[in-house]
Amino acid sequence: MDDRSAGRRGPAVLLGEAAEDWTGDAVFYEYSAAADPVAAGAIAPVPVHRFSPGLHAGTASRMIPLDLSGTLGVPYPATSPGLLASFVVIGPGDHLATVPDATSELYYCLRGRGHSDVERPSAPGDPRPVRMEWMEGDVLTLPAGCTTVHAADASDAEGALLYRVTDSPLLHYLGVTATEPRFEPTRFDGVAARARLAEVEHDPEAVDRSRVSVLLANRATPQTLTATHTLWAMIGVLPPDRVQRPHRHQSAALDLITECSPGCYSLIGSRLDADGAIADPFRVDWEPAGAFVTPPGLWHSHHNESGRPAYLVPVQDAGLHTYLRSLDIRFTSNGP
Ligand SMILES: [Fe+2]
Repeated sequence: MDDRSAGRRGPAVLLGEAAEDWTGDAVFYEYSAAADPVAAGAIAPVPVHRFSPGLHAGTASRMIPLDLSGTLGVPYPATSPGLLASFVVIGPGDHLATVPDATSELYYCLRGRGHSDVERPSAPGDPRPVRMEWMEGDVLTLPAGCTTVHAADASDAEGALLYRVTDSPLLHYLGVTATEPRFEPTRFDGVAARARLAEVEHDPEAVDRSRVSVLLANRATPQTLTATHTLWAMIGVLPPDRVQRPHRHQSAALDLITECSPGCYSLIGSRLDADGAIADPFRVDWEPAGAFVTPPGLWHSHHNESGRPAYLVPVQDAGLHTYLRSLDIRFTSNGP
């Protein structure tokens, strides 16, 4: 007995006697059995899935998560592995609160007008929430840590309808809480966005471009050029009788259709045929104020046979993929 244990009482603990060797969870797979977990059936592929505008019918205030967690095999709400989209209905004169659970929140106002009072932990000593006014066509982005009360004006009998996308599934997967805001609350004015879109549409070179759209970016994201450091968003028009040629990327897209007439659709598939069209495609018909998931890595093209312009707002986790250098966006030989 040395000086350190002198005078101690109780049972002696011998080091190593009940030692855990920490091998219980260790697994060894033969390489070919685990090199492609999707093909092996261990992890589910992201499905093509359409969400009907009927989900947000009525004016009763509520959050409607577009939840595919069962298909994706995760124990938290998710529309794609990294993103959660929701419709947010706010009755006339009513309000609804959102709590922090993401590094980035993006809202697109589909209907009505109102305001969001945003409390930010990043502004200690200033307990006043930031008030952000919004109306149809506006986009808001909010950083980590925001507790927000969204209120619809009482003057609009239909209340307000927002489309919300966050990266909360990514945080759940990582087992983390976002604490540091990476950008300031930001509003993208809908009237300014439409004006910029019209400029792009009437550019003489637009006829040679497959896409007529504007990308939303933030001064805080000079490397990824995206709406937030994780989220990418686009406001686009598909003119009548036009086809947006096939392209693909490794980000998942949660596509919101803001305006369309019957005859607009997307084709989605895993390979191109000899003519550069998508072989054996899955067809998703567009509905106004509806949404659908375009899985990562699949070719997709958009078609407008309605005779009227159609408008879409895809939101993707392409900010994150661009940072990881894993976006791998590809176009058919004609380019973007
Ligand atoms: Fe795309």
